[in-house]
Amino acid sequence: MAKTAVLVYSGGLDTTVCIPLLREEYGFEQVVTVTVDVGQPREDIADAEERARLLGTEHYTVDARAEFARDYCVPAVKANADYQGYPLSTAIARPLIALKAVEIAQQLPRVDAFVHGCTGKGNDQFRLEFIMRTLMPHVPIIAPMRERNLTRSEEIEYARARGIPIHQSTDKIWSIDENLWGRSIEGGLLEDPNYVPPEEIYRWTRNPQDAPNTPQMLTIEFEQGTPMALDGQRMEPLALIQTLNEMAGMHGVGRIDMMEDRMIGLKVRENYECPAAIVLITAHRALEALVCARDELRFKAQADRAWAELAYAGLWLDPFKESLEAFINKVQERVTGTVTLRLFKGSAAVVARTSPWALYDEALASFDTHDFNQSEMSGAVKAHGLPARLYYQLKQRRGER
Ligand code: ARG
Repeated sequence: MAKTAVLVYSGGLDTTVCIPLLREEYGFEQVVTVTVDVGQPREDIADAEERARLLGTEHYTVDARAEFARDYCVPAVKANADYQGYPLSTAIARPLIALKAVEIAQQLPRVDAFVHGCTGKGNDQFRLEFIMRTLMPHVPIIAPMRERNLTRSEEIEYARARGIPIHQSTDKIWSIDENLWGRSIEGGLLEDPNYVPPEEIYRWTRNPQDAPNTPQMLTIEFEQGTPMALDGQRMEPLALIQTLNEMAGMHGVGRIDMMEDRMIGLKVRENYECPAAIVLITAHRALEALVCARDELRFKAQADRAWAELAYAGLWLDPFKESLEAFINKVQERVTGTVTLRLFKGSAAVVARTSPWALYDEALASFDTHDFNQSEMSGAVKAHGLPARLYYQLKQRRGER
């Protein structure tokens, strides 16, 4: 049986260069390429398939979009996914991509190594390897790009010398990662945090100044934290996210320009387009604010943050993540209701919310009723700030001495 490598294959330059490298330098006779569709552009999938065919690999394309939407994006909504202002698009797709490569590997008669194209500077090496190592601990993992420290021009030269077609379109000056939950643009001139992003980096969102001059109202229905319907129409998570990306993108919603602390401690400048993620998380937070108790909300924010850090690190199988989700999902039992938003020139503003679980009593909150006997409050107000009053008196007395 041939010595076999399973390569997580995007079809891009790095992973394409891996194919001849594995044969020439690592002695693999059989290269199996796995491309996982998590909502990247159709052309990227087609390119990967075409290059795999040209290079004679045993190729698999796995359509994981529905699973990604249901089991990765929806939990991200429930946890209000946010790492430093980033809704975690690339991060949450990596474990699923690794999982699909593992599932293919488990069907093969022989697997001698997993291979990925990650460099040594990024987060993806941690995320992919964690899943592979957890699920198939005995299979070694090779990262040729990290091992060889190749520059981009060396890679292009290596590919050219072997007749591998490389697109040199203007697009390639940016390093882009795209899936259903968002689009990330980095590299090139954007590496200077003081460089203003040019309009050409965006594909999903209109410039807010060119967005429609009339606002668009939008309702999202949640059942136990899961978005179930858009404008009254029930949809599966995949269709709902796709539709929202278009609707909100048209109104210029979801652009993010930020500094991000990578796992190894490196700061990077990141640009994202995440229209559906921003709208869904904004709406979901608004519903939680209506149904959760104050202390519950404060604690949930801490749980969400811990969840986001684990998701950023790709620790999808961590026991802490399971425990956090037990709490998060318990809260979601009451996160049922409808949120109305207004999309307008780059913003998605919540303008109405309703829930059968609202911890809210209009009669109590109103300025206009006798339901609440205000005179009963005087005692509670007197006790307010007692330690602070004692402290103030103490300071005054000591000051006199
Ligand atoms: N910094 C983000 C993350 O680690 C996204 C990286 C996307 N990669 C890219 N080449 N654009 O999750």
